[in-house]
Amino acid sequence: MSSNGKLDGKTAVVTGAASGIGRAIAFTLAGAGAAVAIADLNQAGADAVAEEIRGKGGKAIGIAMDVTNEDAVNQGIDRVASELGSVDILVSNAGIQIVNPIENYAYADWRTPTGKR
Ligand SMILES: NC(=O)c1ccc[n+]([C@@H]2O[C@H](COP(=O)([O-])OP(=O)(O)OC[C@H]3O[C@@H](n4cnc5c(N)ncnc54)[C@H](O)[C@@H]3O)[C@@H](O)[C@H]2O)c1
Repeated sequence: MSSNGKLDGKTAVVTGAASGIGRAIAFTLAGAGAAVAIADLNQAGADAVAEEIRGKGGKAIGIAMDVTNEDAVNQGIDRVASELGSVDILVSNAGIQIVNPIENYAYADWRTPTGKR
């Protein structure tokens, strides 16, 4: 991974970065030189993405984090600060999508916090 240097020295946290859009954002930020924390419910997936970025010469760590749990967020951010030095950029990407016609939309689904389905 050759860095364009635009984000050299910066640290980014990307939630929901074990897959999909978050993963692509993490690669883009790492490609700009940022150290990236891959924060996700899916610890194994987060670790795998971080390893992939490191394998390409970028800087990244995997962080287990459920963004609906304040304690988990605080612990994860503390770990990022202690291992990567700071948090300069946050991409709050984690989420779920439940697609349903409104007349069939269960209230429990409407109330479901991200990732708890
Ligand atoms: N893909 C689309 O067309 C689309 C459209 C509009 C909005 N979005 C939103 O963009 C975001 C990313 O979408 P995607 O398609 O890449 O989804 P995705 O399902 O591929 O990835 C979501 C990631 O978020 C993680 N995640 C879910 N709940 C979490 C939680 N509570 N804490 C931490 N991590 C959690 C999942 O483990 C997964 O790795 C989502 O918020 C989604 O709702 C996507």
